[in-house]
Amino acid sequence: MLRFDRRNAVKLFVGAACAAQLAPSIAAEPTLLTKKIPKTGERLPVIGVGTNNYSPTTPDEREARKKVLEALTRNGARVIDTAPAYRESERTIGELLKEIGNREQAFVATKITSTEGMLEESFRRLQVNTLDLVQVHNLINVTALLPLLRAKVAEKKVRYIGVTTWTDDQYPELAQTLRRETLDFVQLDYSLGNRNAAEELLPLAAERGVAVLVNVPFGGRRATNLFTRVRGQAVPDWAKEIDASTWAQIFLKYVVSHPAVTCAIPGMTQLANLEDNLGAARGRLPDAAMRKKMEAWWDALPG
Ligand SMILES: NC(=O)c1ccc[n+]([C@@H]2O[C@H](COP(=O)([O-])OP(=O)(O)OC[C@H]3O[C@@H](n4cnc5c(N)ncnc54)[C@H](OP(=O)(O)O)[C@@H]3O)[C@@H](O)[C@H]2O)c1
Repeated sequence: MLRFDRRNAVKLFVGAACAAQLAPSIAAEPTLLTKKIPKTGERLPVIGVGTNNYSPTTPDEREARKKVLEALTRNGARVIDTAPAYRESERTIGELLKEIGNREQAFVATKITSTEGMLEESFRRLQVNTLDLVQVHNLINVTALLPLLRAKVAEKKVRYIGVTTWTDDQYPELAQTLRRETLDFVQLDYSLGNRNAAEELLPLAAERGVAVLVNVPFGGRRATNLFTRVRGQAVPDWAKEIDASTWAQIFLKYVVSHPAVTCAIPGMTQLANLEDNLGAARGRLPDAAMRKKMEAWWDALPG
């Protein structure tokens, strides 16, 4: 039994003081905002990670990506989007999730373009027994692949199925697919700088009960993405009204506040960017009036 002498009293006091110091920082990180997958009601945090740049060529690059994937689930986020087309991405994610030990917390989404053993390769590279979501990449072979994916759902190897695009040219085909097929997810491009998906596709996804993942929410990894247009500028005063303190949080809060959007998957290879972006899954989101104000503000920006 602990003897309550002066030395132990000092230890207890120091321990309590440390705990008191730690408590505010733990309490200061509210849980992430989530949205429901319409088909099941399962909730997903509104920010995940896109991994088309997860083919590290040095140990430092690999370590940076490991830190992102570790902090992702430690903070309560889940969605990791990859594809066989992203060079070493699936293999890297498989290895890193194993090393971190967080496969069970993650929601792993990959893509498919061929019926010829491609999915089996994804299971092998990702080192998983089940995949949370498999999407037909850019609608390639969509009519042949959806029955194959449905068979995998029946076998309980795949939990959800969907399709992806990232270009306006495919919007008419995507709309037809959404009307014709029963899908769980659609993945498409949408951002403050590219709002075309909001015209037909996002309302249609909502009407059809299809969850939406948003890719390229910053306009992509190109030199001329959304950040270029605001470089060197302070965030506007109204950002406080939506609890955003950075440009990334403004851009992401715009995307995930669309009622049809389930989760945005910005590409991130740096821990600092993940920490910044998770801020978009906390606090207030813009309401319809604020979303209009943000659009008008963006359209009036020079360049
Ligand atoms: N057809 C399809 O299915 C399709 C097509 C395109 C993309 N996608 C998916 O969508 C994901 C996202 O697309 P993307 O990565 O090309 O474009 P993105 O998400 O629009 O932009 C990613 C870029 O933004 C940077 N970034 C991230 N957070 C930031 C922050 N807080 N502040 C400043 N810069 C930040 C990243 O830097 P760091 O990497 O240095 O952190 C990276 O250079 C892809 O990874 C992929 O999973 C799917």
